Formats: sequence, structure tokens, C-alpha cells
Amino acid sequence: MIKFKGNIISKLPGVETSIFAVMSGLAVKHKAINLSQGFPDFPVSEKLISAIHKKMTAGFNQYAPMTGIPALREQIVAKASKTYGIDYNAESEVTVTAGGTQALFTAISAFVREEDEVIIFEPAYDSYSPAVRLNGGVVKYAQLRLPDYHIDWQEVAKMVTNRTRMIIINTPHNPTGSILSENDMKELHKITKKTDIIILSDEVYEHIIFEDIKHQSVCAYPELAERSLVVGSFGKTFHATGWKIGFVLGPENLMSEFRKAHQFNVFSVNTPIQHALADFLADEENYLHLGAFYQQKRDFFTDRLKNARFKIIPTFGTYFQLLDYSAISDEKEMDFAKRLITEFGIASVPVSAFYQKKEDNKILRFCFAKGEKTLEKAATILCKI
Ligand SMILES: Cc1ncc(COP(=O)(O)O)c(C=O)c1O
Repeated sequence: MIKFKGNIISKLPGVETSIFAVMSGLAVKHKAINLSQGFPDFPVSEKLISAIHKKMTAGFNQYAPMTGIPALREQIVAKASKTYGIDYNAESEVTVTAGGTQALFTAISAFVREEDEVIIFEPAYDSYSPAVRLNGGVVKYAQLRLPDYHIDWQEVAKMVTNRTRMIIINTPHNPTGSILSENDMKELHKITKKTDIIILSDEVYEHIIFEDIKHQSVCAYPELAERSLVVGSFGKTFHATGWKIGFVLGPENLMSEFRKAHQFNVFSVNTPIQHALADFLADEENYLHLGAFYQQKRDFFTDRLKNARFKIIPTFGTYFQLLDYSAISDEKEMDFAKRLITEFGIASVPVSAFYQKKEDNKILRFCFAKGEKTLEKAATILCKI
């Protein structure tokens, strides 16, 4: 072991190893069924994999342009036009990123300055707050209201000050599976319309939405789109979370600032995958049925939990199912989640981990992006608890 002998002043005091790594580590140690981390356990399309191989063999192996290859940018913009009726410019209003996480981090770095305030809704995806704090910003937490995790817009209106630089929204929402409605979009517009606030809209689960509900993208609301950076992830859409490739869409003047940070953050993104994705995205059949695919998995899992003592909290999008265990135990979420692994062999994530103050509502998050055998096995165990 070697050691730095100087003084380290942490820029992120209090940040520990991510809850996903902790729970996955415990799952491996106790040979538990891992429904904690959000990744699919089924294969990526053969067609896509063989297209990547072909692109590599054809020699697409050197740096891509900083903004992404033109063919992929054109396809992303075409998809936004077909899906949300908005016409972004492929040259100046879209950038290919190393996954949603890098898009989020770079967007925050590009706009948040010392002392700027950023409104984040809790429970929140874990990368938002550290990214704001590393850039000197101040996080203001608004609470999603139980039982359905809706936004209290009056609370948000009261939180806006002349220091508010950004509001981060996420729909469909990780960890709760809730979604924003048309009315939410109207409220967001009302609050931001006479301000310089930038909306960072995390829509990585845009195609994983159920019961034919229409995903409410900021892209579909011209006045919101004007002030928004919209983040997408091919990892989520094509069952390939390990590829870390995504994109950000936004108006030219926001995108040019985004790119100033992006070029020194990663510069450019995996070339052969970009070429293969450009071909693959051209056929909307490759992503349009994703909602139905995951809805079937959600229903398979929840049908088998009908007689369990866990209470099912409705999920409308993403591949996460929340279960309330208050009828079973009054242990803290972290303790109960650990016991689920060690005694029963199932790994989940306590929702308290998505709150700064570890708010404890006796609710755990389970990922259902798994094969039926795994879901069946997990549900059988959960029904016995
Ligand atoms: C809400 C949310 N945003 C962003 C990301 C990151 O996306 P990517 O894996 O493309 O970096 C995730 C991944 O779990 C997520 O759940």
C-alpha cells in the first residue's frame, strides 16, 4: 500500500461507496438474487453486436468527432422529431456522450457556478447532488410526496430564488417508477417562464413507460425545450448499460456551452458503437416496443407478489418496482435490506439511500429487468417473508 502524505481536504465529505456497489457486493458474497443494481440480465440484440463488429473490422476505430459522428446525431434528432415533434439541428443541438451520467455531469459543470442553487427532487438519482457540489453549487431538495411520489409545485415555487440556476427533473423516475404528467409540465413552465433557469431533464427511461401512457418529454413543450438540456441513454434503451453511451439535446446557445465542457471532459465517445447505433436507430422497431417488453416483466413479477405481505407501489415506467414492507417489519430500510440478502437471498436497494437525510419509509427498490426464472424465484421467496 502506498499513501499520499499531504493533507487531503475532501471536496465530497460524507460521500461513501455507492449503495449499488454495496448491495451488489453483499449479493455476490451471500450468493443472493441480485435485484439491486439496475441492469438487464438478458442479451443485447445480435444484430447490433454484429454491426459493431463489422464497424470495427471496417476500420472505424479512431477518435470520433467531439460532438459525435454526424450519422448518429442525425438519427437522434430524427428520433426526437418522430417521437416528440421537435426539430433539433443535428449539427449544433445534439452531442453524443459517454452515457447519461457524463451528460448530466457535463451539463451541471457547464452551467453551475459557485453558490448557484440547483433544485433536485428527492428521492433522487445519486449522481445529481455530488455533481452540483463538485462545481461549487448548492443543492436545494424538494420532496416528492408519497404515496405516489408527485411534485408539490407550490413547494418548488417557494424554493426558487434569483440564485436558482437549474432544476433537475427525471421522468420516468428512478427509483420510484413515477412519471410526470402534462400538468406537471405546465407547472414547470409557469415557474420558470420569466427566469434564466435551465432545466436539466433526465429522460434516460424515455422508452420504458407502461400502459401506452405518453412520455412527457420537455421536448414536446417548445417553451420548456428552449431552456432545457435533455439527457438520453442507449444503455437503457438497448439493454447495454456497460457500453456507456448516450446523448444530450438542447438549443444551440446552451449546447455550445455544454460542448465547451464536454470537449475537456471526455472529448469524444466510442467510435464503432456510434456507427452501429446510427444504423440501428434508423429502424424505430428497435426501440418502440420497449415499454410493452418491460410492462410484461413488471406484471409477471407483481402478479406473483399478489399474496405477499409486501405492498406493491404502482410503477408506471423504468424497470424498478417499489415494495413497502411496513406490514412485515419496523426495521430501518438498510437493516431490512441487508437481512433480505443474508437470510433470504434477495438483494434490493433501500429507497432511503436516495435521500440526503436517509428518510425511512420502509420501502425497497427491486429491479425487474431480469429473466422470468429469476423473477419467479425472487417472488416465491418474497411471498414467504
Ligand atoms: C435516472 C438515471 N439517470 C441516469 C443514469 C445513467 O445512465 P448511463 O448508464 O447511460 O450513464 C441512470 C442509470 O441508472 C439513471 O437511472
